[in-house]
Amino acid sequence: MLALASATDAAWVDRALAHLDVVLLDHAHCEKKAASTAINLIFRYQDRPALMAPLSALAREELAHFEEMLAALARRGIAFGRLDPSPYAAELLSVCRPHEPARLLDTLLCCALIEARSCERMQFLADRLPDADLARLYRGLLAAEARHHQAYVDLARAVELFEESEIRARLAQIAAHEATVIARPRAEPRLHN
Ligand SMILES: [Fe+2]
Ligand SMILES: [Fe+2]
Repeated sequence: MLALASATDAAWVDRALAHLDVVLLDHAHCEKKAASTAINLIFRYQDRPALMAPLSALAREELAHFEEMLAALARRGIAFGRLDPSPYAAELLSVCRPHEPARLLDTLLCCALIEARSCERMQFLADRLPDADLARLYRGLLAAEARHHQAYVDLARAVELFEESEIRARLAQIAAHEATVIARPRAEPRLHN
């Protein structure tokens, strides 16, 4: 349902739980980045009216998630501040073709896969977190990220530029690329490392 080409290794959640504070901080940044990405797409594709309201709603929801994560950090006494991001998103987005409308299709499908991977990993956290409040927060967030995954794929259809077969084939190609990017070993514990 999430279109991912690989499953996260169970060892990831052990590492995430062992470095929970930094993973939570990284997650707050990811929500902020998700909102910023949706807003950037509104600016870049103003000539595509079908994208405007759904992307605006997505941006608002991601900012609400950002605020939820800020509150979760505050409850644990973690100060919000700068953190080096995972190279995951930039490496994933490097697959985007530079010419339009291919660039639009690829960007929407990369966003769909980021949402899918986030959802998958939040499920691991929701299942394993010893803190009941945090586990409940994650169950709420992961349901939203599953919807966002579908929303980005639906936007690729809504612009009426791409055949269904093209969308499906490109989603499978980018999912295979995403599986290689997420599997790269990284030193820093992050939501996508
Ligand atoms: Fe989110
Ligand atoms: Fe999302």
